[in-house]
Amino acid sequence: MTSSAIQFIWNNKILKIDNPDPNETLLNFIRLKIKKTGTKEGCAEGGCGACTVVLAELKKNTLTYKAINACISFVTILQGKQLILVEDLSNNDGSLHPVQKAMVDYHGSQCGFCTPGFVMSLFALTKDYSSYTEENIKDSISGNLCRCTGYRPIMDAAKSLNNKNRSDKFVKNKKKIINLLKKIKSENINIKNKNKKYFAPTTVTELKKIIKDYPNSNFLSGGTDLSLIVTKDRKDIDNIISLNSINELNFIEKKNENIIVGASTPLREFELFIKKYYPDFASILNRYGSVQIRNVATIAGNIATASPIGDTLPLLLSLDAKVVLQSLNKKTILPLKNFFVSYRKTKLKKRQFIHSIIIPIFKKNIFKAYKISKRIDDDISSVCASFNLEVKNKKIKNIKIAYGGMASIPKRAINCEKNLINTNISEENIEKTKKTLEKDFKPISDMRASKNYRMEIAKNLLMKCLMEIKNNKLLRLN
Ligand SMILES: Cc1cc2nc3c(=O)[nH]c(=O)nc-3n(C[C@H](O)[C@H](O)[C@H](O)COP(=O)(O)OP(=O)(O)OC[C@H]3O[C@@H](n4cnc5c(N)ncnc54)[C@H](O)[C@@H]3O)c2cc1C
Ligand code: FES
Ligand code: FES
Repeated sequence: MTSSAIQFIWNNKILKIDNPDPNETLLNFIRLKIKKTGTKEGCAEGGCGACTVVLAELKKNTLTYKAINACISFVTILQGKQLILVEDLSNNDGSLHPVQKAMVDYHGSQCGFCTPGFVMSLFALTKDYSSYTEENIKDSISGNLCRCTGYRPIMDAAKSLNNKNRSDKFVKNKKKIINLLKKIKSENINIKNKNKKYFAPTTVTELKKIIKDYPNSNFLSGGTDLSLIVTKDRKDIDNIISLNSINELNFIEKKNENIIVGASTPLREFELFIKKYYPDFASILNRYGSVQIRNVATIAGNIATASPIGDTLPLLLSLDAKVVLQSLNKKTILPLKNFFVSYRKTKLKKRQFIHSIIIPIFKKNIFKAYKISKRIDDDISSVCASFNLEVKNKKIKNIKIAYGGMASIPKRAINCEKNLINTNISEENIEKTKKTLEKDFKPISDMRASKNYRMEIAKNLLMKCLMEIKNNKLLRLN
């Protein structure tokens, strides 16, 4: 079955949009078509959170709620979901939702421009967690900027929710929404709007057929990079193939000492999974964009973008990850270190897409990763470094080091690795090895950091990693 309409739930009803403009942002749809202006536009690039809305989705017969940035989502993201806007939170008698009431009671708003976004992020927090700690509150609002109230009253408002009754109208309406969502059939979407086309196949087989007919299309996963072509570059994307309705591509599994992640698995799900195997990987992801970004963005999108400062890339390189590339008639497994060709150029061929990523589990190894950026939350790296090493009787038996932000592609530090293998970790050796990074990398200066700063940081992170291992303690500032 194929449909040219997207269907979603809003205000307890199923709504249908026939052949929507596939480049229309969800934010424009909300503000201009359904004329709800509580959701604001601040930055239009996913950085301020003023446009935060919540989508509820049916997973294993229960509803899961996700805060997302409407400004960098296309309206097609609504397919098969419930849209929840800030206007939808209050009760029919006009009384406020507990989150809104807490923001009033604790003076969490002054000019109010950012407030709807904060309210929606905190609303999603109340659906995600049963208690609200400093840590999970900070995480949930890390993608929301406020420039006048300050964050303390907002934190106080969120903490006060711990003592409030959790039942709201969404809890009461749960069954009704689940029944409505079940009425929206999972079907292939095929939209034509003037010269633009949008496809959302539900199987890999169907996907291959579309790729064959439309080889110049853009794949859409989370859209956190792709959508900026529309919102920032102000260009049209003529053909989009969404990978988000293909359940076969949304998985994480552990198989034969490997973790395999499907291409359309959101980073937030991966973050929770990887914590057990590589806690530092999860710590880096915790500082990757914001919850709104990680709720939709994927590792596959990060790899395909091939940015030299993509955060997962040095980590995956040091873990010897492989990409599974799917073309029309075969799957190829390529080591990630051979995937990046030059600045934002990869080995990905026409009619080929990333199917999944294979990450080996190094049981005996120490894995460490560090991200240096101008601010802690919601910022892109100046330098990101990752170390994966096996140390036996104080000797380095195996080592893989990779850096982001140090070259035109994310890259292994081969000379540095050679210098360290089969040596003892000593201060003298570390000092000598730091120099080898100058052979491995010739960083550039840009708005994020100067080349000298980058090199100094790279050397210091190497030292930090080895000193942490030598002294068996973390050298970290909170
Ligand atoms: C506010 C904000 C903060 C950000 N913070 C960070 C950060 O801290 N660290 C970081 O590394 N990045 C960050 N990013 C960049 C972005 O979120 C990541 O690169 C993300 O991983 C991209 O994934 P996506 O699923 O959204 O990709 P999309 O935008 O959907 O796609 C990106 C590119 O990859 C292609 N593509 C997607 N999936 C596939 C596939 N399966 N096969 C082949 N090609 C594919 C698309 O066609 C497109 O060219 C941020 C972006 C924003 C807007
Ligand atoms: S408007 Fe700033 S994140 Fe959307
Ligand atoms: S209340 Fe004014 S920006 Fe937050």
